[in-house]
Amino acid sequence: MDLHEAIEHRRTFAIISHPDAGKTTLTEKFLLYGGAIQTAGAVKSNKIRRGATSDFMEIERQRGISVSTSVMTFQYGGKLINLLDTPGHRDFAEDTYRTLTAVDSVVLVIDCVKGVEAQTERLMEVCRMRNTPVIVFINKLDLEGRDPFDLLDELEEKLRIKVRPMSWPIGIGATFQGVYDMYSKGLRMFDPGKTKVEQSSVRIDDVHDPAMVDHIGEDATASLREDVDLIEGVYEPLSTEAYRAGRIAPVFFGSAFNNFGVKEVLDAFVGIAPPPGPRPTDQGEIAPDDPRFSGFIFKIHANLDPNHRDRIAFLRVCSGQFQRNTYYHHVRLDKNVRFSTPTNFLAAAKTIVDEAWPGDVIGLFDTGNFKIGDTLTDGASFNFRGIPAFSPELFRELVNLDPMKSKQLDKGIRQLTDEGVAQLFTQQPGNKKVVGCVGELQFEVIAYRLEHEYGAKCAFQQIAAHMACWMTSTDPEELDRFIRVKAQQIVQDKDDNPVFMAPSAYMLDLEKRNNPSITFHTTSEFKTLASADGGGSY
Ligand code: G4P
Repeated sequence: MDLHEAIEHRRTFAIISHPDAGKTTLTEKFLLYGGAIQTAGAVKSNKIRRGATSDFMEIERQRGISVSTSVMTFQYGGKLINLLDTPGHRDFAEDTYRTLTAVDSVVLVIDCVKGVEAQTERLMEVCRMRNTPVIVFINKLDLEGRDPFDLLDELEEKLRIKVRPMSWPIGIGATFQGVYDMYSKGLRMFDPGKTKVEQSSVRIDDVHDPAMVDHIGEDATASLREDVDLIEGVYEPLSTEAYRAGRIAPVFFGSAFNNFGVKEVLDAFVGIAPPPGPRPTDQGEIAPDDPRFSGFIFKIHANLDPNHRDRIAFLRVCSGQFQRNTYYHHVRLDKNVRFSTPTNFLAAAKTIVDEAWPGDVIGLFDTGNFKIGDTLTDGASFNFRGIPAFSPELFRELVNLDPMKSKQLDKGIRQLTDEGVAQLFTQQPGNKKVVGCVGELQFEVIAYRLEHEYGAKCAFQQIAAHMACWMTSTDPEELDRFIRVKAQQIVQDKDDNPVFMAPSAYMLDLEKRNNPSITFHTTSEFKTLASADGGGSY
């Protein structure tokens, strides 16, 4: 296959949502359409359910499932679609943020009863940083949800993106009859319980077609006509260009559980979603059709067997062609590496691949060479950017409970943080280790894995830390002085960048006012993100 054909053939995306909005259900329906699975219920939810088993045991079980669902590849509408899975639990949100660096677009699922939820806002912020194109699917129309116009207003306001409805619901909850497809001018009648791949479409000329009344009744016809007139007057038409630039999001209504409105989203997706695009590096952008191979690691999965420390590193191919058994340049280690068993995930089965193209994600067997964010090239020495660290929300000092095992603890915490399980900050002198997480569950996972995989026992001690802030300054001397004076609150991140560990929101505000020449950032990649309407900095 020729490189340009391969690129045009591929679409790489993720489905994102606040937990419980319907991501797993929608994923399953997409896979059914793509023929990658044959039965409903085949996709295991990666949600961490609180229940009989302790949470971290549940997480161990989930790790087993999520290796196989990390990338789901299927064919639909003449395209090869790579669907990247994202964790279902809020505590592992950072994993999702990293996965978003490896996709070219997203489908965002919103629960029509709950509207835009906290996690949705955070995810959208990450999409905005890269102008990732978004298609919105408003789900659970079979339930008594909110007014669709209110939902659209909320989307625009909270997610700060223009929207354009592509379909419009006729009733909601008990009165839900179906949707009017604003583009093909069709009526799609709702038939609850259809979990098979079917459709029930009625052709009409447009919303003013008199036949409409026969299908949905007089009252519903009148209010639909009113709604559609309002939409046409208020919302600008969808331009593919604006969507691809991340400026406008098409919105669909449906019910994933009932397989209603799902095909419309998938059809629109293959119609408008962008092919693999260029990626930023520290030496400018790399276009996918650059014939020289390059890619980066965005996720690392440890083996479930504690006796084997091998891992799977997930590589997104960014340019050129990847080939099995070929030497590539590992830029950070400045050494050449070769892979004899790279895998892909076509039809949910792991198979060895001989080649991969831009937009593809392959699993590389790793014995500890990779960190998240590592770049592989065919010889060039640039690094991909855009895998930022976000300030964790919880900080604890790592305390060694067995002095005989300090080497194991050191190695263990380094390897686990290389995997992206949490962020590690160190403070000198004394080599004090501060672990930063998004949620409590992560600390449990780390303690459990350190003990079972590395034989090291640890405890986590509370410290007064509110936010990790990376710093830039217009005055380097001022910054040096600040770092010296605040040595007690300065730690180093994994790349040895100085980070100010603000003890409280009040102190951060105070330092900000006292040091106007210093900017405090809540992500490590402020240079790329600075353009994102101030996102990421204080
Ligand atoms: P998530 O991955 O985003 O966390 O959500 P998931 O798909 O697991 O869906 C969360 C719950 O919402 C599930 O119910 C699912 O069946 C339900 N759901 C998904 N789509 C729809 C829909 O269109 N209408 C309605 N009424 N419900 C929907 P659950 O009880 O938590 O799980 P399960 O026991 O059904 O698997």
